[in-house]
Amino acid sequence: MAPAVTKAVIPAAGLGTRFLPATKAQPKEMLPVVDKPAIQYVVEEAVRAGIDDILIITGRGKRSLEDHFDRNFELEYYLEQRGKIHDLGEIQALAEMADIHYVRQGEPLGLGHAVSVARKHVGDNPFVVMLGDDIMDRRCTVLADMIATFEEYQRSVVALSEFPIEEISAYGVVRPETVTDHLVRVLDIVEKPQPAAAPSNLAVMGRYVFTPDIFQALEQVKPGHGGEIQLTDAIALLLREQEVYGYVFGEGRYDIGKKLDYLRATVELAMDREDLGPEFRAFLAEIVRKRGLA
Ligand code: G1P
Repeated sequence: MAPAVTKAVIPAAGLGTRFLPATKAQPKEMLPVVDKPAIQYVVEEAVRAGIDDILIITGRGKRSLEDHFDRNFELEYYLEQRGKIHDLGEIQALAEMADIHYVRQGEPLGLGHAVSVARKHVGDNPFVVMLGDDIMDRRCTVLADMIATFEEYQRSVVALSEFPIEEISAYGVVRPETVTDHLVRVLDIVEKPQPAAAPSNLAVMGRYVFTPDIFQALEQVKPGHGGEIQLTDAIALLLREQEVYGYVFGEGRYDIGKKLDYLRATVELAMDREDLGPEFRAFLAEIVRKRGLA
């Protein structure tokens, strides 16, 4: 039987220049969305989809990520002494969520290079890549759906969403061939094309399931868009050897790499929270009324 998908790779070595000055002295992955650092949403999503082995690709200045998912006995003792049992449970659960490993990228040579650093850890297994700029709310099952697709076809799967063509040049874009309602076969893929050159309006979102063959493709890739080793270019090579599929989804994704979308994510995720939601929604309604926004 083919091996199950139990490993995820989360590249987190980037400098976060789109979010300065907040990211000058702290990793962008640690920016809080409501009350959790962004990367925790990604790890929780992986765990929900059945992943139990996570490799985070880090770089300089990323130590707080490791601390976040580690035990903190001093804090645990403090919370226990004060009877803060709920907080204590949450903090302990964080360290036990999954088996989390770290490896450094060394030089920031691009997303494709960051993924290639995972090769030894992943070995000859299928694996998931999750980009931390994209976070999914709890209702979004795209990763589990992609893994199910992988299990059926035994081929790599990328997450896709439809975008207005004027926004398409921020993404990898595919030339699709329809298979079913949600599934396309990827016939070609290009990194950040100009709208006029885009093969469709289906953009690659930050979730991928790969056969281990992606590593051979990554070895052959030359610097591409922005002079970087692009994961998209490796996928373009891979699909010459074997089919690659795209799983099209719509709802539940927030791109927190952009300031405006980060604000949108914060508002929407806070509104959905059982503990904060009711009061926060009332506050928003009040603001809309006071400022004459509606
Ligand atoms: C990366 C990928 C791109 C993909 C995007 C999704 O770009 O290179 O193909 O569409 O993530 O968020 P980045 O956002 O890192 O520039």
